[in-house]
Amino acid sequence: MSEFDLAASSNTRPATRRMAVVLPRICRRLCLVLMAALVAGPVMADVQQADFDSIQLYTLKNSSGMEVSVTNFGAIITSIKVPDRDGKFDDVALGYDSVDKYINAVDKPYFGAVVGRYGNRIAEGTFKLDGQTYTLAKNNPPNHLHGGIIGFDKVVWNAETKSTDRGDAVVLRYTAKDMEEGYPGKLDVTVTYTLTNDNEIIIDYHATTTKATPVNLTQHTYFNLKGEGRGTILDHELLINAKRFTPVDETLIPTGELAPVSGTPFDFTEAKAIGRDIGQEHQQLKFGLGYDHNFVLDREGKGMALAARVHEPISGRVLEVTTTEPGVQFYCGNFLDGRLTGKSGQPYVHRGGFCLETQHFPDSPNQPEFPSTILRPGKAYETTTKWKFTVKE
Ligand code: BGC
Repeated sequence: MSEFDLAASSNTRPATRRMAVVLPRICRRLCLVLMAALVAGPVMADVQQADFDSIQLYTLKNSSGMEVSVTNFGAIITSIKVPDRDGKFDDVALGYDSVDKYINAVDKPYFGAVVGRYGNRIAEGTFKLDGQTYTLAKNNPPNHLHGGIIGFDKVVWNAETKSTDRGDAVVLRYTAKDMEEGYPGKLDVTVTYTLTNDNEIIIDYHATTTKATPVNLTQHTYFNLKGEGRGTILDHELLINAKRFTPVDETLIPTGELAPVSGTPFDFTEAKAIGRDIGQEHQQLKFGLGYDHNFVLDREGKGMALAARVHEPISGRVLEVTTTEPGVQFYCGNFLDGRLTGKSGQPYVHRGGFCLETQHFPDSPNQPEFPSTILRPGKAYETTTKWKFTVKE
């Protein structure tokens, strides 16, 4: 058993202590990598050895036996165990059984992590705000992706557990310094994962800043509703509540257009298998190497709205995503290629998982027509996304 063995966290602890604490372990290798990065950048996350000593795993369990495990490294959801239509539980979230693997994964898949300060891309790693130009890492050349070199997915968060009316929760907090990864303003971020007795995971994001700054936080879990490591997700039936999407250029930066999905492979307004149209000749599918696009959600006013619903016919599992956000990035694991081996020892094959990243639109700091992502001092960033798991007979 590895020292950060997530599988070892299966809970034998009672009630509130169900949130098992496992794996305090120093990741020397990562520290070296991060320290090297510290030297390279302007202001980077202040990664201390002591932070790595505090990496823990928390497991929430509800009255119907559903379990969600979370680590305070990257606020990563490491597993989600939900029943199929026969009551058999499987882990439907891709991930690893050791923190080292999260840290050293090739191709940086961001399995299960909170990404920020800005989820998705900012063109050429630069934006102007209040007359000043800011420069960010081009960590996905030629663009900036998911908050930079040491984004919120690679830092150690403070965590505490609490019981609420809605269910048990893990509350994670991180303070990003002014100019960390090139972004202005000290940003205090809180992400709360709550597991309800209705098999819902509610994700509440909260942030405040000392200076105007772009903020776009999302959750990067890859799902396979058959169970992680069980082949592709191409047979999952997906509905996205969006009549429009934001087409991209060849570097995956939105062109600015809100294009109708009607008559294109991007039409998921009625449920269809993810794989049905993915092979069509379409320039946008070429640019994304498949689906890797932001959809503009159909919503009336603010509040929670349906983003997407996914049904996996063999297990009968259904995932419904609702959110306060205006968009959702549907990414279907185009960059997975079988080189990463998951926690059950199975390779994560091409399109072996999908993400539904609720968000503001990519590159919004450079696209004045898009809903603003700028948070100003004195205001609070508040968004909520809910994942509800059910089964269909
Ligand atoms: C992006 C993809 C990227 C993936 C993993 C997704 O949010 O849209 O382009 O490859 O994250 O980094």
